[in-house]
This record gives sequence, C-alpha cells and structure tokens, in this order.
Amino acid sequence: MVANMKWDYTALAPSYVMRPDYAPDAIDALCALTGARPGHLVCDVGAGVGHLTLPLLDRGLMVDAVEPNDAMREIGLRRTADRTRVAWFDGTGEATGRPAGRYDLVTFGSSFNVTDRSLAMLETARIGKPGAWFACMWNHRDLDDPFQAEVEAMIHALVPDYDYGTRREDQTAVIEGSGLFGAVERIEGRILHTVPAVDWIRAWESHATLQRQAGDRLPAVLAGIAGFVAARGLTSVVVPYTTRIWTAQLR
Ligand SMILES: C[S@@+](CC[C@H](N)C(=O)[O-])C[C@H]1O[C@@H](n2cnc3c(N)ncnc32)[C@H](O)[C@@H]1O
Repeated sequence: MVANMKWDYTALAPSYVMRPDYAPDAIDALCALTGARPGHLVCDVGAGVGHLTLPLLDRGLMVDAVEPNDAMREIGLRRTADRTRVAWFDGTGEATGRPAGRYDLVTFGSSFNVTDRSLAMLETARIGKPGAWFACMWNHRDLDDPFQAEVEAMIHALVPDYDYGTRREDQTAVIEGSGLFGAVERIEGRILHTVPAVDWIRAWESHATLQRQAGDRLPAVLAGIAGFVAARGLTSVVVPYTTRIWTAQLR
C-alpha cells in the first residue's frame, strides 16, 4: 500500500540503505530521558528500511515497525530478519492500525514531516500507554562544512527555490501546540558518515526532498556533485551530520 503518493519512496528504496545512521549518543540520550529500557515496546512509524528500528532493537527494545511503502518495508524486513523482537506492519503515521494504549515510545525517524503532523500526534496519543513518549528526529547534514557549503551553493544555483521544508524546522511549537504533550525536550548528537565517493553520489539519488524539488534538473545536480568529487580526486567522502531529536511525554 502506498498511502500518499506525494511521499512515494518506491524508487528510492534500494539506495535508502546507504543513508547515514543516527548519532548513537543521541539515541542513548533519548532512551535515558524517556526511560526506554529492554523489554519496553516501541512503535517506529515510517520505519522505512529500518535505520531507526535497528538501533532501537540493539538497545533491547521491542519494536513494531509501521511502514506504508512495500519496497521500503520489504528491505526493512530483510535487514531485521535475524531479530526476534521486531514485527513489521503496513500503516501510516495517521492510521498505524496498531492497538490503543500499547506503546511506551512512539518514534518517527525522518518521517514526521511526511505525515499530517496533527493527525500523527493524535494517533500517537491513541496508541501510547498513559505517559508514553513521542519522539521525532532527523539527520541534518552540516551545511557549514566547507565542502557541503559548496555542494549547497551548486544545488541552489540549479534549483533556486530549493528548500528543505519541515524536515529542518524546529518542531517544538507544533508538538506543544497540539496540547497532547508536556514540555518538549531537545537532543542533539554529531555523527560523521564516511562513504565511498561512488556511494555518496548514488545516495543523492535517494534524497527525496531534492528529487521532488529538482524535477528534471536532478541529472544536472547529480552531475554537479559528481564533478566536485572528481575535481578533488576523492575516493571517499566524510559527511558531518547532526542528529536532532524532539521528544515529549503524553499528558
Ligand atoms: C525518510 S524515510 C525514513 C525511514 C526511516 N524511518 C529512517 O529513519 O531512515 C520516510 C519514510 O516514511 C514513509 N512514509 C510515507 N508516508 C508516510 C505516512 N503518511 N506515515 C508514515 N510513514 C510514511 C516512507 O514510505 C518512508 O519509508
């Protein structure tokens, strides 16, 4: 099932596996703050190919992974096939299909922005236990890094109205404005993602925001990125990211 074609990840699924992990210390801090511990049950919404599901499982949590896109979910299923504490479900943030009052923590790894956030928070309140926690997070590439700044300038030259939209916005007002949660806590962690240059270029093909906004200018953007890598003779690229998490407890 594809719930919302505007956010159809089918074509991006194979290269999505190469996206960077979330900063481990940020995930640890989230678990510490929310009291999530082995045996607790998490609903990981928009779980994709499992980038957040896997580190949650690594910390002993049980995870129900909800993902509407068949191609993403199939890869996620494969990547977690050797894990016993995970189950995958077809569903969306707005309608997870999961039972009411079941979860200790409901997570949105780079997926809160692809939902109707008001409906997704209402659904979180429905499926969460009393006092359950909500968390949404993204990996933000550090655009101040000199190499990344050059790449950004090139993208903006080709796609002048390029905008990262809600995935780079502060989520605090939206979460607190729902009236469903207590005060929002913020967590940040840095992570360096070192990738073979060819994989880094290919990973741009999985950049949903760029793909949507560049349209038929995408080949030129990808050629520009490949040109930067070739000009520097890079065989691998070190890409700095900041994992940013917004988390709050149900009232
Ligand atoms: C950017 S990916 C993130 C995947 C993964 N959680 C991660 O951290 O890398 C966004 C995912 O949200 C899914 N998605 C699209 N619409 C959705 C919706 N309405 N509710 C929940 N997930 C949705 C997409 O299919 C995709 O797998």
